Amino acid sequence: MSEDRRAQPAEPAASQRKPYITGNWKLWGTRAQAAEYCRTFAPLLDDPAADVGLFVPFTALDTVISALDGTGVTVGAQTMSGEDSGAFTGEVSAAMLTEGGAGAVLLGHSERRQLYGETDRALQAKVPAALAAGLAPILCVGETEEEREAGDMERKLRHQIGEGLESVPDDRLADVTVAYEPIWAIGTGQVATPDQAQEAIGFVRALVGGRSEEAAQRIRVLYGGSVKPGNAAELLSQPDVDGALVGGASLDPEGFAAIVAAAG
Ligand code: PGA
Repeated sequence: MSEDRRAQPAEPAASQRKPYITGNWKLWGTRAQAAEYCRTFAPLLDDPAADVGLFVPFTALDTVISALDGTGVTVGAQTMSGEDSGAFTGEVSAAMLTEGGAGAVLLGHSERRQLYGETDRALQAKVPAALAAGLAPILCVGETEEEREAGDMERKLRHQIGEGLESVPDDRLADVTVAYEPIWAIGTGQVATPDQAQEAIGFVRALVGGRSEEAAQRIRVLYGGSVKPGNAAELLSQPDVDGALVGGASLDPEGFAAIVAAAG
């Protein structure tokens, strides 16, 4: 490579990453509600500048997948087992999800961690299991209020990212999406400031950079926690914030479509 070419500034990293706006319905969405939602939502998607994902209850997956067919929206589950089969009552495997047409899965959401005992060790197996099955995983990470106040945010993120991505080979790291969701901001209306989101997400990207600089430039890292139509644009304008994971505000199709539009 000539001196001249080496002197060229690198392309801005953000330009390589398409925004990704995702909705997490949590425990909402009978098939009837899902069908009605999609009837309103689909026409509001006018060639969006962002990729769009909806994470819905298992029982609503096929309804949403059929209703949004042709819109380009990725439809996924909110959790899955790391096992293929066996004595794991109530669990759903990656193969069961892909067979039903799911394209993605949320892993390690803080509610799964806090209420159902999901561990970093379990996620270490689940993230590669999702990738191997052809599902695009979103690995959720984030600190509690106490951890933030104690100055432990970076330690927590280092641990969650380190364990969650440990068994993912470097050349597949960028196929994972990470959602940084500070627990104190989830469902509380207490959104992180754009600076707080940028700082934490920049730190997550640097952690991935410790494994592979190329992956760090390509991996999408989303912010989640009280994202609303009114605060989305400012959060999304931060250089390292590649999108949003939206809980409560995704239940309103018009509001969620407005957040998708804010990424454009
Ligand atoms: P919220 O939830 O937008 O309702 O705060 C975010 C999430 O839990 O993913």
